[in-house]
Amino acid sequence: MLAVRHHLHRFPELSNQEFATTAYLRKQLADHAIHVMDLPLATGLVAEVRGEQPGPLVILRSDIDALPIEEQSDEAFRSQNPGVMHACGHDFHASAALGAAILLQQQRSRLAGCVRILFQPAEEIGQGAPAILASGALNDASVIFGLHNDPGLPVGVVGCKAGALTAGVDRFAIRIKGTGTHAARPHEGNDPIVIAGQLITALQTLIARNLPSDQNAVVSVTQVHSGTTWNVIPEEAWLEGTIRTFSDESRTLLERRLRQLLHGLGVSFNADIALEWLPGPPSVCNDERWAAFALEQATLCGLEARVVEASPIGEDFAFYQQRVPVAFVMVGSGGPWPLHHPQFRVDDAALFPAARYLAALALAAGQQLAASVG
Ligand code: NI
Repeated sequence: MLAVRHHLHRFPELSNQEFATTAYLRKQLADHAIHVMDLPLATGLVAEVRGEQPGPLVILRSDIDALPIEEQSDEAFRSQNPGVMHACGHDFHASAALGAAILLQQQRSRLAGCVRILFQPAEEIGQGAPAILASGALNDASVIFGLHNDPGLPVGVVGCKAGALTAGVDRFAIRIKGTGTHAARPHEGNDPIVIAGQLITALQTLIARNLPSDQNAVVSVTQVHSGTTWNVIPEEAWLEGTIRTFSDESRTLLERRLRQLLHGLGVSFNADIALEWLPGPPSVCNDERWAAFALEQATLCGLEARVVEASPIGEDFAFYQQRVPVAFVMVGSGGPWPLHHPQFRVDDAALFPAARYLAALALAAGQQLAASVG
């Protein structure tokens, strides 16, 4: 498993380009006589282990894509693909899922029903989960478990909670069209930079003056572009950013208030303000029963189960909950660097416990569901 993780880490691939990663995982699964489903997926794959007892369909999900980041590391297995890095630890997720598949294959006599193990592509751009859903691999599934490593948790800890665990991720781009003029004669134009300044400040009231104090959200403006020199008032300003929310209600509310705010500012300043709204995945909302089950199984596996706070990161795993009850867990990977950092690393000591835990989760869920039906 360590060799697999190090191999994946050396040869990271961007979203929807995981061709070598897919071929490599396919070979590993074949070497262990694990069936791979025949699905219309360009990258990524779904393995299947059938138990010897009748029972439900349980899904384990990992992801396999990397990020456009230049790795800063002196590890022997650092990235060999310039500008691409497994900075979110999806190499860890895929190798843990492979380990779980092998463990389940060895325990088929005890397995009730069927476990499908997803090696999902394109998580970072939110396209992988919809592709897997469209492939039909989740039809008739009873529950789906997913994991993400968490460098904020020590190795040996599994974090989970019922309800919202990650944030809904929306992206916005705003174009303010004013009228360019000489910097010395602003009254002859309409300055988009002054309007952008008002807008950036007003955006923070979306949360401070619209959400109740017990609800969280984030609005961040991350790009502002306007102007070319010191003595010209430009024609346009362009801003981009993200809104993170933890419920469908606050997501809808903040989008509506953003649109109202932009409309009002446009009227006030007599400018054209256009919004491009790019919705991403919703907040991962863990099923109460399966979140408790995931924590209980962590304890039974000798890990420390911890109820954690919701995190403002996004996860396209959330798309699965539209079809199947979900439980997403955070697996401690030891830090010290945060996810998406050029020096990010996972402690290898977390790998085998994670694989064993995933296998135990699937096995126990299958047995419990089979027993409740029987
Ligand atoms: Ni990730």
